[in-house]
Amino acid sequence: MTDALVVSAHRNPTDTLSGFEEWEHFMEERYPTPLEGQIVPPPMQRTMQRRDGYRDYRAEARPGVKEFYRLNHIHQTLDLVKAKQKDFGRLNRKEMSVWEAIELLDTIVDDSDPDNENSQIWHALQSGEAAREAGLPRWFVLTTFIHDLGKVLCCFGEPQWAVVGDTFPLGCPFSDQIVFPEFFAENPDLKVPEYQRPHGIYEPGCGLDKAFMSWGHDEYLYYVTRDYLPIEAQYIIRYHSFYPLHREREYLWLLNEQDRKHLKWVKAFNPFDLYSKGDAKPDAEKCLPYYRELVEEYLPGRLKW
Ligand SMILES: [Fe+2]
Ligand SMILES: [Fe+2]
Repeated sequence: MTDALVVSAHRNPTDTLSGFEEWEHFMEERYPTPLEGQIVPPPMQRTMQRRDGYRDYRAEARPGVKEFYRLNHIHQTLDLVKAKQKDFGRLNRKEMSVWEAIELLDTIVDDSDPDNENSQIWHALQSGEAAREAGLPRWFVLTTFIHDLGKVLCCFGEPQWAVVGDTFPLGCPFSDQIVFPEFFAENPDLKVPEYQRPHGIYEPGCGLDKAFMSWGHDEYLYYVTRDYLPIEAQYIIRYHSFYPLHREREYLWLLNEQDRKHLKWVKAFNPFDLYSKGDAKPDAEKCLPYYRELVEEYLPGRLKW
């Protein structure tokens, strides 16, 4: 079966977003400005300069986005996360290079969006180039370039609510700073008293590594790449969608010393993810050789997915 056939065979009837960009655009609206003192992408690339002030992200959320969050908040439970970690942690789905994964991802996303201006390779290149122009180290540029590759989960039959979305820990109370917290009312974990104690199943300061994060592309790509990348890169990959922590300052009680040390990289990465989707498109022919070399340096050959 070709990859295109695999994708359409696994097309999930519960998918509500017209493409992942819809969720990402929503996040950009929720967080229209970077945190104070952050290095941001060069002005030419910033979409935010076209905005006229703050907009009410909740009022503007498209029905698809809202429904996406409803499904995400109902279905992400501690049991589900444990099962997904066990299943996908085996990395027995496929062996492919970073480039094959990028191609596969674009097959999926473009299927729902004929405007390939929005394709995942452009997001990879725009965010990567923004980090390179800002003078960030090679490992950071590489991480920025590959950070969303975990979205290939959707070609293994995973619905969108188990691929994207801002992440949060399970097994402890849901923060009311998570987008659309009201949708947690129907989450079965709400009825488990052990999970609803102040720190749930965790000891304060136990460290993020012990936390069962809602399942999605962050944790999955961390499994695929963790043996190859420096720890700072692993933090970015694993927690880049953990907005309740890195933007809302919730769940700080989970952190240990190592987390506190490396959280700055997750925060430093965020503007390159969120604010690099401008009109200025990198010259792919010119910059691809740089990325080929970079990928070859850190993630050579085929990886297990
Ligand atoms: Fe992401
Ligand atoms: Fe991204």
